[in-house]
Amino acid sequence: MHLLRVQVPDFRGLKNIDITFEKDFSPKIFPLGSQNGGGKSTLLQLIFVLLHCSVDEDKKPFLQNMLHDFKISEEEDKRILAIIDIWDGEEIINLEFFCKKVSFLEHIIGDSEEELDFLDCHAIDEDINPETILDIGGISKLKKRFSYDGKIVVFTRLQCCFNNKDMGKSKLFLDNISSKIFLAAPSTQVFLFLPQDSRKLLFKNLTNGDNYYSILESVKDKLPCLFTYDFLAVELLVKSFKYAVECDFRAMIKTGSYGNSYQTLINDLNLLLGNKKINVNEDFSGVNFHLDNNGETIELYPEDLSHGELKRLSIYIWLKSRNIEDAIVLMDEVEIAFHPDWQYQIISDLKEWAPSNQYILATHSYALCEALTPAHVKEIEPKLIKQEL
Ligand SMILES: Nc1ncnc2c1ncn2[C@@H]1O[C@H](COP(=O)(O)OP(=O)(O)OP(=O)(O)O)[C@@H](O)[C@H]1O
Ligand SMILES: [Mg+2]
Repeated sequence: MHLLRVQVPDFRGLKNIDITFEKDFSPKIFPLGSQNGGGKSTLLQLIFVLLHCSVDEDKKPFLQNMLHDFKISEEEDKRILAIIDIWDGEEIINLEFFCKKVSFLEHIIGDSEEELDFLDCHAIDEDINPETILDIGGISKLKKRFSYDGKIVVFTRLQCCFNNKDMGKSKLFLDNISSKIFLAAPSTQVFLFLPQDSRKLLFKNLTNGDNYYSILESVKDKLPCLFTYDFLAVELLVKSFKYAVECDFRAMIKTGSYGNSYQTLINDLNLLLGNKKINVNEDFSGVNFHLDNNGETIELYPEDLSHGELKRLSIYIWLKSRNIEDAIVLMDEVEIAFHPDWQYQIISDLKEWAPSNQYILATHSYALCEALTPAHVKEIEPKLIKQEL
């Protein structure tokens, strides 16, 4: 999968966005820069929810949250939200996401306002779509109500128009892409696809009950392609070891000799950790690290590692444990906690750890951009201006 081009005419702070990510560039890693508030996080989150949440009914409420402020004026019937071109390995799929006012005769849908909500509308949408348009769902409740030979209600609904005439194939494509799009971001990020009430919790100091981070954790269960890389996910690490051992054991049954998945994982992690060696507990209850300090071995635990070490390890283990391949990986503020050397290094890390993916990295880091050609670096206005000291 390769995200070729994204156009967003007008969404929140994003104006006239038109960015091309060239398919034949190597590596397929594109930094995305702008000054603070330029809209990088908004753009990554919009791409993520459109591609990850448009098919599955359980995920559609996240789209509704994201599009909460996206209104159509009185004069318009339709407003384009985003146009996304994707290369699926064989052809270019063009997806035009737009919101449209759709009218219904009230008696068809009933009297109660709850019935006019987002998810209940599928039973009544048979007549509204030409063949190449997929009706995703309503983003607003009742817009207006007036008399006209009976009452008419108007919804704003999100729809998607495909360049492909075969609707079955298009739906299959959206279904497939929803498991091939990933978003990684710091958990301190405001996620626009969370309910508005939850977003406000980030700015409240609550001692009990729900807080932003516990809500984010529960949301991650519903959005499996969302990852926050602030802390080392020890359970992911342990899971990877278990999986590697299983692979080796299966190889034994099949071929008569053990595979080398476990050893490869250990070697990769030790290479990444530099002066420390990783060990997994025999009962898979956790991991520790051995640091050689002039001949003396010091035992360390995940909580003893540095912020940057934990982050680098967590990105590696996320890509490996989720088996993220041939995917579009959107990463926000990947450089936070990294020394400029590691900001530069993260490009070759990603290339080495999971080379079949395309990466789009929202960043403020010149060191990171310098690891690629200037043509790889995409910018949103207002652009980054390097200060001459
Ligand atoms: N409805 C809106 N209309 C216009 N601008 C908006 C709207 N909502 C938010 N904004 C602006 O959009 C910007 C948020 O953009 P975003 O967080 O995507 O920027 P960013 O490039 O990721 O910034 P940073 O580098 O600081 O993380 C803010 O400046 C905010 O004021
Ligand atoms: Mg941001």
